[in-house]
Amino acid sequence: MLWALLLPLLQPVVAETGIDAWLRYARVPNCGKLRHEVPGRIVALNNSEASPVYTAGQELALGFAGILDKDVQVSDTSSAKHHGSHGHSGTLMVGTVDQFADASMDVDLDDDELIADGYHISISGSDVHIIGENDRGALYGAFNYLNALAQGNVPSESYTSNPDAPIRWVNHWDNLQDGGTHGSVERGYGGESIFYWDGSVREDLSRVPQYARLLASVGINGAIVNNVNANESMVEPYIVQGLQRVADLMRPYGVQIGMSLNFATPELLGVLDTYDPLNQSVIDFWNQRTDMIYEHIPDLAGYLIKASSEGQPGPLAINRTLAEGANLFAKALQPHGGITMFRAFVYDSTSLNETEDWRADRANAAVEFFDGLDGKFDDNVVIQIKYGPIDFQVREPASPLFAHLKNTPSAIELQVTQEYLGQQDHVMYFADLWKSVLDFDLRVDGEQSLVKDIIAGRRFNQPLGGYAAVSGIGLNQTWLGSHLAMSNLYLYGQMAWNPDVSSAGVIEDWTRLTFGFNQDVIDTVREISLEAWPTYENYTGNLGIQTLTDILNAHYGPNPASQDGNPWGQWTRADTFSIGMDRTIENGTGFAGQYPPEVAQMYDNIETTPDDLLLWFHHVPYTYVLNSGETVIQHFYNAHYAGSENAQTFPERWQALQGKMDQQQWSETMHKFVYQAGHSIVWRDAINNFYYNLSDIPDELGRVGHHPYRIEAESMELDNYELYPVIPWNTASNKTCIVTTSNSTTGTASTTLSDVKTGTYDVAVNYFDQAIGHAQWTLSIDDTVVGKWVGDSDVTLSHAPVLYIDGQTAIRITFNGVDIKKGATLKIVGVADGQEPAPIDYVSIFPPGEVD
Ligand SMILES: *[C@@H]1O[C@H](CO)[C@@H](O)[C@H](O)[C@H]1NC(C)=O
Ligand SMILES: *[C@@H]1O[C@H](CO)[C@@H](O)[C@H](O)[C@H]1NC(C)=O
Ligand SMILES: *[C@@H]1O[C@H](CO)[C@@H](O)[C@H](O)[C@H]1NC(C)=O
Ligand SMILES: *[C@@H]1O[C@H](CO)[C@@H](O)[C@H](O)[C@H]1NC(C)=O
Ligand SMILES: *[C@@H]1O[C@H](CO)[C@@H](O)[C@H](O)[C@H]1NC(C)=O
Ligand SMILES: *[C@@H]1O[C@H](CO)[C@@H](O)[C@H](O)[C@H]1NC(C)=O
Ligand SMILES: *[C@@H]1O[C@H](CO)[C@@H](O)[C@H](O)[C@H]1NC(C)=O
Ligand SMILES: *[C@@H]1O[C@H](CO)[C@@H](O)[C@H](O)[C@H]1NC(C)=O
Ligand SMILES: *[C@@H]1O[C@H](CO)[C@@H](O)[C@H](O)[C@H]1NC(C)=O
Ligand SMILES: *[C@@H]1O[C@H](CO)[C@@H](O)[C@H](O)[C@H]1NC(C)=O
Ligand SMILES: *[C@@H]1O[C@H](CO)[C@@H](O)[C@H](O)[C@H]1NC(C)=O
Repeated sequence: MLWALLLPLLQPVVAETGIDAWLRYARVPNCGKLRHEVPGRIVALNNSEASPVYTAGQELALGFAGILDKDVQVSDTSSAKHHGSHGHSGTLMVGTVDQFADASMDVDLDDDELIADGYHISISGSDVHIIGENDRGALYGAFNYLNALAQGNVPSESYTSNPDAPIRWVNHWDNLQDGGTHGSVERGYGGESIFYWDGSVREDLSRVPQYARLLASVGINGAIVNNVNANESMVEPYIVQGLQRVADLMRPYGVQIGMSLNFATPELLGVLDTYDPLNQSVIDFWNQRTDMIYEHIPDLAGYLIKASSEGQPGPLAINRTLAEGANLFAKALQPHGGITMFRAFVYDSTSLNETEDWRADRANAAVEFFDGLDGKFDDNVVIQIKYGPIDFQVREPASPLFAHLKNTPSAIELQVTQEYLGQQDHVMYFADLWKSVLDFDLRVDGEQSLVKDIIAGRRFNQPLGGYAAVSGIGLNQTWLGSHLAMSNLYLYGQMAWNPDVSSAGVIEDWTRLTFGFNQDVIDTVREISLEAWPTYENYTGNLGIQTLTDILNAHYGPNPASQDGNPWGQWTRADTFSIGMDRTIENGTGFAGQYPPEVAQMYDNIETTPDDLLLWFHHVPYTYVLNSGETVIQHFYNAHYAGSENAQTFPERWQALQGKMDQQQWSETMHKFVYQAGHSIVWRDAINNFYYNLSDIPDELGRVGHHPYRIEAESMELDNYELYPVIPWNTASNKTCIVTTSNSTTGTASTTLSDVKTGTYDVAVNYFDQAIGHAQWTLSIDDTVVGKWVGDSDVTLSHAPVLYIDGQTAIRITFNGVDIKKGATLKIVGVADGQEPAPIDYVSIFPPGEVD
């Protein structure tokens, strides 16, 4: 009895940084039993350290030691031949089909049972054979076996696993050079680049093999190692030599590297005065550079090209087609077996005008630009298509371009990094969002045409195709800047291997591997993860209106006004009566007509358009009644309250897990949940106030614009503080905050709480924390300090740094259980720092448990 109670206390408390992610190989509770169920010898049928088969042997030994506390030596080919597999406790042998044959081992496989990268795990008595179709497949098999062990299961029956699609790559938007910023990662929230520093490949690449190991463990076989907005220096010998070191470090994990290229490279380097893809000098340039690159990196996966988009140079500027542009690289790569991934994200971001042209629509761009090009691409070109027609929004319909390329392989582009989806400070789990696109049936030629079948090459008989995801990892110990966010990298690999995996199953596996076996932890992580997307959608952009984030700046906080009145084409067309993009065929932009007839008809007709995409396809009055029975505007209000209310439960639910998982991981995650709960209210109020003002239709439930517990900072007695009109106005309560009168003063805001009855309250303070200083605040009531905090979120949170006082820097901090006497004096002292003037928006004093 007593022992049972004491045991948890005796377990070592190890602070985990997150660097091992789901590959911790932590001891499993039943290791004593399992230790005897796994083989006592490991044989890796290749002893070359560059070989994934060798890596597999090492990894298995590492796993056995960690998971089972079992020391096993790895022997190589020759000793395998000597001893066969007749050891006492069985042998685990790993290698390729050919290597097993060379070692005169029987492999019981049908001819076409394995495809490239696939594996078979044969279990016979105490012997285990992990047989890869190729060396990478053998490594994947070893990782799969270890995945089961690390979850406390020893596989007992033979099985075969093959990838759903050949291309399973990550894309890195790491900048080689970026106007003075060292090693930055575009849309990355996990620190600096693991690859570059100061315009060159890093000397210290120690994070690269650790990362490749994570990728291999979930079947990812390629990594494009620089930003699609590429620097021309990528093809200079000094960079290529650096990339050779990267490739050498990734090769033992079966990860091939590839590069993004700038279309205008020959001109930008000053070698030629043209980049015309049909000019022989340009062709020679690319052939020579490509040959040089393959001398250093013989297994380069290929090139990724962003051309003629968002200011990037491309073939359209010189009257060449996108196919001519893509084929230039394809031809250079062809002799070496490389692939050109050509991005479909082509649009004109300069001349679209919302007011002048009701039919203008950026969503139309991809299909229009690629019109007539299907079949004109070389065999080794793959068109890489973002999941939706705009840009990684919280909900988009599947890109119609997937239905147009019957004679050209395609790949889907996903984002693991949460660019428009909370930037790793709001919890997000992408399984259901990705499935909403992958499982969508485009009905090409009236037949079932699921997006996942098209990109796998099944639907149109393409030998190539698959998946690309923008990774966003950096030097941060958690890789992505958040422990929970890593579930999406794990998920990505699992879904690219098998898009039919269960959303709940993957997150449960990941949680066991990352946080351990406590059932409360597993249940809570699963539940919060599955709620994450609908919760975020609720308090950001609903009904297909897009995320409503600030699209002109960091893509982070609320700013619905930023969507319209500019040529970026992420419009909402909200006016005082109505909202939504009219993408119908007759009256609108015609986008609905880009889908095959059955789908076109569904989206063209407002009656058959699902509520969650209504405003993507139709322009309606705010009073339009949804299938749910709510009006559009009331749905906005309700969803924003429901979403932010659910976000309030995340810290509570996480609190219950303290002591049931690693303390460091627990507390770093708790910090984010507390922040998200507050920021969800910032979102809720900003969006609701914006549409209330615009539509002038009040919330039926009387919540919007009505905050009886709030005291505006601007209505307090101010000393060295002054009023500041916040832009956009809807991101501050009463449009106004206070700032210190200069950045060297200490400001004081105070008020007498004459309307507050004596009692215990929660006290929330909304303030702004810009990324240009570490201001400090102290909240006291009757000279008792309630709380003191520092504006250091630029260090403790992961989202993009923002300089402005707006919805991106707004933070809400809450102090629970504060005793207040009627008539007490509330005082906030703000100390400016750097250019940060300790801004305060409001204080809210409300009964515990309420969401004000
Ligand atoms: C062993 O691995 C090395 C490096 O990958 C490779 O060059 C070699 O061909 C492999 N040997 C066998 C027998 O497969
Ligand atoms: C590439 O980097 C160099 C050096 O920082 C810079 O001058 C150049 O403008 C960059 N090229 C592009 C296309 O950004
Ligand atoms: C190709 O480009 C080179 C370098 O600018 C130029 O000298 C040559 O005339 C061009 N060839 C053709 C056929 O236009
Ligand atoms: C492209 O074609 C247009 C129309 O034919 C012509 O006006 C323009 O000068 C051409 N541009 C280039 C760079 O050749
Ligand atoms: C769009 O056109 C209108 C009317 O011609 C003009 O006033 C406005 O400035 C244009 N908008 C943009 C973003 O160019
Ligand atoms: C049809 O288009 C016009 C603009 O040309 C727009 O004002 C109107 O709202 C649209 N009608 C419907 C039913 O969407
Ligand atoms: C989202 O909002 C809708 C509409 O108010 C509500 O039915 C649903 O329960 C909410 N879901 C979450 C997770 O907030
Ligand atoms: C509120 O909406 C009206 C249009 O109805 C607009 O003119 C006004 O500027 C908005 N108020 C604010 C503070 O933006
Ligand atoms: C709202 O802000 C204005 C200044 O922008 C100020 O005059 C007014 O007193 C504020 N209202 C409240 C309730 O604090
Ligand atoms: C990792 O990122 C988090 C913010 O998400 C930050 O608090 C932490 O300090 C970073 N750690 C390292 C080692 O960079
Ligand atoms: C105060 O702000 C000014 C202007 O924004 C800035 O130049 C100055 O460096 C700041 N002072 C301090 C102490 O950082």
